[in-house]
Amino acid sequence: MTADPAFVTTTRTFYDAIAEDYHARFRTVLDDAPLDRALMGAFAELVGPEGQVADLGCGPGLVTAHLASLGLRVFGLDLSSSMLAIARRENPGLRFEQGSMLELDLPDGALAGAVSWYSSIHTPWERLPDLFGEVRRVLAPGGHLLLGFQVGDEPNHHNRPWGHPVALDFERRRPEPMAELLEQVGFTVLSRTVRFTEETTLAQVPQAFLIARR
Ligand SMILES: C[S@@+](CC[C@H](N)C(=O)[O-])C[C@H]1O[C@@H](n2cnc3c(N)ncnc32)[C@H](O)[C@@H]1O
Repeated sequence: MTADPAFVTTTRTFYDAIAEDYHARFRTVLDDAPLDRALMGAFAELVGPEGQVADLGCGPGLVTAHLASLGLRVFGLDLSSSMLAIARRENPGLRFEQGSMLELDLPDGALAGAVSWYSSIHTPWERLPDLFGEVRRVLAPGGHLLLGFQVGDEPNHHNRPWGHPVALDFERRRPEPMAELLEQVGFTVLSRTVRFTEETTLAQVPQAFLIARR
């Protein structure tokens, strides 16, 4: 195992500090997001109930729990021990593990599905081929990836959220180059969706969702 790059350490420190406030703010966000749930439903149908699915960068486990409710055999993985403590507390029947998406402790082809729901947004663009290459490695041929991220060209810099003495960039990206990048590392992109801002959700910019197959 190699040492974590600085951006991973910064990301872990940030989420360890804000985990409880993040959870309090976002715990019901899926209730008001029918389009997001529809995409998760499509992903669940594509994957099916047999194979193992990983929610990579699961945070408090909201998406992990939703995918489990759709019948998927899903576990969560995250960098942040504080996020994982909440995920385990809120979802006692589900499995959550600590680790980095850049270096997964899984054999080649182990997964039928992988989700990265706003968790690639702290990885610099030049490291995304490594990240998605690692996700591709652990997916079985025909396995599916569901990816969510904010749309834009400039990062959103969060400084001292909820008064905690931490800061982090939330990268915004265009769906087209993200889709091209996935194709370059060996995925076939099946769908590219942009959801524009809805009053009922907390999103302030359009949100992009890609579904790809290995
Ligand atoms: C914006 S939060 C999203 C959490 C969750 N997916 C959700 O939608 O509620 C980003 C999460 O990704 C995790 N994360 C970021 N980079 C990661 C990496 N390289 N490996 C594992 N987790 C990572 C963070 O620790 C954080 O919990």
